[in-house]
Amino acid sequence: MRIIRCKDYDDMSRKTANIISAQVILKPNAKLGLATGTTPIGAYEQLIKWYEKGDVDFSEVSTYNLDEYYGLSGDHPQSYRYFMDHTFFDHINIDKGHTHVPDGSNPNIDEACAAYDELMAKAGQMDLQLLGIGRNGHVGFNEPGESFSKGTHCVELAESTIVANSRLFDSIDDVPRKAYSMGVQNIMSAKTILVAASGEDKAQAVYDMIYGPVSPHCTASILQLHGDCFVVADEDALSLC
Ligand code: GLP
Repeated sequence: MRIIRCKDYDDMSRKTANIISAQVILKPNAKLGLATGTTPIGAYEQLIKWYEKGDVDFSEVSTYNLDEYYGLSGDHPQSYRYFMDHTFFDHINIDKGHTHVPDGSNPNIDEACAAYDELMAKAGQMDLQLLGIGRNGHVGFNEPGESFSKGTHCVELAESTIVANSRLFDSIDDVPRKAYSMGVQNIMSAKTILVAASGEDKAQAVYDMIYGPVSPHCTASILQLHGDCFVVADEDALSLC
């Protein structure tokens, strides 16, 4: 794993955006695996600015998001589809038909998961997979557990994740208890993986990801086995490393 040290959140966001834009410049029809959460917002904002200046063109790019809350449709303000549209896609020249998020409104778990896996299999390898990291080391919504997941599946969210994500909902009771998520095998099959991390509350998870044993108890630790994975993190997130 390569570590790119950043001064603070803004520096981390610019470096993350630089890597994504370099990928799109090098390969205009790049396939990007994208993440939600607070962490990548600054990078998305930076990419929008560069798009507006004419520095980066998303017209041929296609994207595949990691996860979606079970039970929320794309027009729900807390859904990840809504987040991606409003935070990023609506502000760049990407073809919306080329942007993909698991269908949270499909209650048929087997069908929804198979459909997303099929879509990704058809797309082929992601050129760049962007990841955030949860405070418990989760990536996507792959919570700590006894084994690593394979394909897209429906996850019971950990209590700590529900608490952490409740800041974006009116009340903790509104946070869905389940989510669809790409599996660890989906994530690991990307050509290159970029983990973005910021803040002291991520320091333990970042340490465990980089130096801990490879174990499903810290999902992100599996990334140690990926041949082209780098961590773009600020001083606070790297404070234990
Ligand atoms: C969420 C998402 C993850 C995200 C993580 C960290 O639960 N499912 O994809 O990386 O938590 O979020 P944040 O960047 O807001 O800390």
